[in-house]
Formats: sequence, C-alpha cells, structure tokens
Amino acid sequence: MILDIYEKCNADKGCHERWERWESHRDEISAVLNERIFSAEKIKNAIILGAGRCEDIDLKFLLKHVESLTLVDYDYNSMEKAIERQQLDREESDKVTLKGNVEFTGFYKEEFINEVIDKIKREESPESVVQFITAHLSSINSGLSQSLDNNKYSLVISGAVHSQLIVPYTQIAALNEDYTGQLMLEAGNIANTLAENYNKNLFSLVGEKGWLFSYFDVMELSESNNTLQYEEIINGLLVQNEYQKIDEFFLQNGGVAGARHGYNHLFQLARQYNPFEKCWIWQFRDNKKYYIRSLCVNKV
Ligand SMILES: C[S@@+](CC[C@H](N)C(=O)[O-])C[C@H]1O[C@@H](n2cnc3c(N)ncnc32)[C@H](O)[C@@H]1O
Repeated sequence: MILDIYEKCNADKGCHERWERWESHRDEISAVLNERIFSAEKIKNAIILGAGRCEDIDLKFLLKHVESLTLVDYDYNSMEKAIERQQLDREESDKVTLKGNVEFTGFYKEEFINEVIDKIKREESPESVVQFITAHLSSINSGLSQSLDNNKYSLVISGAVHSQLIVPYTQIAALNEDYTGQLMLEAGNIANTLAENYNKNLFSLVGEKGWLFSYFDVMELSESNNTLQYEEIINGLLVQNEYQKIDEFFLQNGGVAGARHGYNHLFQLARQYNPFEKCWIWQFRDNKKYYIRSLCVNKV
C-alpha cells in the first residue's frame, strides 16, 4: 500500500537520540507558542496535524496550556507510542484524543492509486497517465474537515507536513522506471498544489479568534547536497532577523518541494492577520539540518 510509506518513515529507529538532538527545535516551537499565545490566554481545544512521533512537540508543556488536544496523522501507531514515550500522566492523557488513518490531501484515494497502477500495467503512454493525474489533482476535495467532525479549533499546529504531502506520489512514480522521469517532471507542481490545498484546510480548521502555528522545512542543509557549509552564514543572518536575505541568497533553487511554496502561500493567506514570523535551524541529523520558517497567526 502506497500510504504505508508514512508508517515506514516514522518507524525509523533512534527515538531517544532524536529526542535529545531535537531539543532546541522543540524549544523554538515552545517559545513561539508561549510568547505569542499562552502568555495571554488559555486554549480551549488544540489540534496537531502530522503529530506522528511527536518528537518536535513537548506534549507536557503543551497540555499545561490547553484544555483538550487532538493528535492527527495517517500513522496512528507512532502517535500511540509517542504518548507512552513522553510519559503523560492520567490527567494529561485524558485530555488527548488520537485520530489515525486520516489522509490530509484527498489526493491519494485508493481508487485513484489503483487506476494509476492499472494504467501503468496496461502500458498506457506516460503522457496519458500524467493527464489522468493532473485531472484528478484539479478535482480533489480533501474531506479533512469531515474526518474531524467539522470541528473548529482554538489552536491548529502543523509541523514539517507540507514537504511530506508529495512523498506517496514519488512512490507511485518509482513503481515503474519507464514512467518515473515523466511523472517526476510533475512532482514540483503537484507538491505546490497539495501545499496550497493543505493551507486552505489548515485555515478553515481555525475557529473564531483562533490561532494557527505552522512551520516549514524550507531548505535542506546536508552533506549529500553540499550545503552544510551555509549553516554559519544563515545563523549570522538569523541573529539579525534577515529572513528575506536568507530566502534571496539561499533558496534560489527552489528549496524543499512543497515547503517553500507552502510558506509563501500561507503568508499570503494570512497577510491580513499580520502573521508573526520566526526562523531557525533544525538539527535533524548529524549530517542533515533544515532551515525552518514558521508562521504564527491569530485569526482576528
Ligand atoms: C515530518 S513529520 C512531522 C514531525 C513529527 N511531528 C515528529 O515529531 O516526528 C510529518 C508527519 O505528517 C504525517 N503526514 C504526512 N503527510 C500526510 C498525509 N498526506 N496525511 C496524513 N498524515 C501525513 C506523517 O505520517 C508524519 O508523521
């Protein structure tokens, strides 16, 4: 099953090591939530989309400030394990609801995936497969709101999800190498459209006067793409809040598919609410880091 990829990615071992390495990343997130939101108000109901292993969120900290918390992901098991790992006590875990098997985009419906696979098996031309995919893309309705019982939330959190929405598509493209090249030519556009739809969904989940906090892994700094060397310069610019310069100097090649465009698109959607921006570097692995841009928006 193509969507099993999320569970496979989350199954990556090394939780303990990652929890320690990601401490400063969690602290950045907690600091924004604290300074912008929790210092002024207690939150009635919060939701985290793409909660997964919850290694980027200090659940105990969050639960001090919210009356209820819904964690949502396609991968249910990772969230269940996260609750155990963060050792929530009875009172804390009573506030938490888990919702698994929720697919955020509505793009990866089983019938659609089966039809693409059949077309490839029937050796239809790559062009006609692409045409089918783009027609499907323009007709999708995620159904996310219905999966969440049409609830509205006083705080909606999403972290590093925009970049992941294209992952199952890359799995489909890899099924048959005769189609990979042609299908991957579309990946950038599809990633951007999925990111835009997801932004609209995020926004519509926010209740009256509610908050949205989303962060985006807009640029990879890694050994494999020879970009680790930029970390020091980016850190220098971060100290001066020169986010625009970082974008201009380092993201000319597009950044991470879905994430950079997702950030820019959400910024435009939220513009009238005067979004607060904060950026930092996420120490993802020893040889891989991400430049993070985040937005915190109050829908008033
Ligand atoms: C990069 S992780 C976010 C970090 C995660 N909170 C953690 O601490 O490990 C992205 C999460 O979004 C989920 N996800 C990505 N695309 C999804 C989709 N289309 N539908 C549902 N969940 C999705 C993945 O399963 C994964 O848990």
